Amino acid sequence: MSAITPPTTRLWWKQPIDRVEGTWIAIAFVWCLVMFFMMPYWHIVGKQNLANEAYRTTPERFTQKTQEMVDKYKVREETEQKIPVVAPPAGSDVYLIARLWQWWPMLELEEGKTYRLHLASMDWLHGFSLQPENINIQVHPNYEHILTVTPTRAGTYSIICNEYCGINHHTMVTRLYVVKPK
Ligand code: CUA
Repeated sequence: MSAITPPTTRLWWKQPIDRVEGTWIAIAFVWCLVMFFMMPYWHIVGKQNLANEAYRTTPERFTQKTQEMVDKYKVREETEQKIPVVAPPAGSDVYLIARLWQWWPMLELEEGKTYRLHLASMDWLHGFSLQPENINIQVHPNYEHILTVTPTRAGTYSIICNEYCGINHHTMVTRLYVVKPK
């Protein structure tokens, strides 16, 4: 039998399975199970696949909530584009906009405090990737993703976009500040 000519016997699927093929099917099946159980395992042990909530939103509504936070808690501006740095109170809801090709605003959070981090895209798919912690989440338009986060170490973290989103995808980077509680 070959892949080009039709099988000589029409009931080819009744042939006994070859040892090598059977072995590979078994290996593939076991690997599927490993990958499947890695998801809950990594969620619990790895602390990287964070549980999140998602709600419908619109760019207008999300922008409004973000703007309100910026108006209240802006502490300074950074970079040439004058991106506001916002230090919202511990325990509050914080908002981060993903858009072509920018994260807005910059967040300054306190170590050891828990925040509800809201993420939404203004245009199309972006990827929120917090480095070097390696926390990843897709950011979709018209959905608001909420992560409950507690930064455990003070420092300056990088947020990069890890879903290809066009010509300036590589420039879609920002910082996240985690400071010692005042
Ligand atoms: Cu946004 Cu890539």
